[in-house]
Amino acid sequence: MVNNIVVAIDGYSSCGKSTLAKALAKKLHFIYVDSGAMYRAVTLYFLRNQTDLSNHDLIIDALEHIDLNFHSRDYQSHILLNGEEVSDEIRQMPVSESVSLIASIKEVRKAMVRKQQKMGKSKNIVMDGRDIGTTVFPHAQVKFFMTADPKIRAERRYQELLAKGERISLEEIFDNLAHRDFLDTTREESPLTRAADAIILDNTNLTEQEQLDFAIEKIRPFMV
Ligand code: CDP
Ligand code: CDP
Repeated sequence: MVNNIVVAIDGYSSCGKSTLAKALAKKLHFIYVDSGAMYRAVTLYFLRNQTDLSNHDLIIDALEHIDLNFHSRDYQSHILLNGEEVSDEIRQMPVSESVSLIASIKEVRKAMVRKQQKMGKSKNIVMDGRDIGTTVFPHAQVKFFMTADPKIRAERRYQELLAKGERISLEEIFDNLAHRDFLDTTREESPLTRAADAIILDNTNLTEQEQLDFAIEKIRPFMV
């Protein structure tokens, strides 16, 4: 495919990016790539190996030993870390607490961006993250910048984790989201920021279907 379509979705923590991205991929038959899962999987690897984060040579060496692969089932994205399925483990609190720090490391970002750009070279894809419309695919045809009221975001994530049986307070989640948003927006390396040409999508009062309808309308013109 020569003129493949790239849809970039960026935004704050837990504001519905992956929900929208998965629904779009399903509806439009695009490939879905969860870039956050990649940073989370790298974080899991570093935590398991107790990698010394102050030693950049060690980080570069570790990155060479990390093989990340996605496999898609029913438009749900599963991530394999050196062949092991880690999709559930990377969503747990130990990873959530460290991921933004690890995602601020220049070498880590370089390696992830390279992989992500490769994935969007020839296929129609929808990718969600923090720097997709600004750094990974600055020429994406359609860019969304998602946001929602922080209390609503924490409540939604709380309900999601509760359903999975994770014991965690709403307050802890709220603090984690606020802390990650702070680190993500203030880091030196490609901080989370709205690309000038990104469409703002505030879903505080939108259902998942409403946000999907809104996005489809913006993408359709590029699909003729
Ligand atoms: O789903 P949630 O909003 O909780 O986060 P995520 O998309 O899984 O991303 C986890 C973390 O990875 C973010 O808080 C960022 O620190 C980092 N990340 C990033 O720096 N750049 C991306 N393109 C995607 C995620
Ligand atoms: O990917 P990101 O961290 O931005 O958020 P998500 O995992 O897609 O969404 C977080 C939670 O919000 C999920 O449980 C979604 O089902 C829920 N959600 C919602 O209730 N209403 C929306 N309009 C969007 C997402």
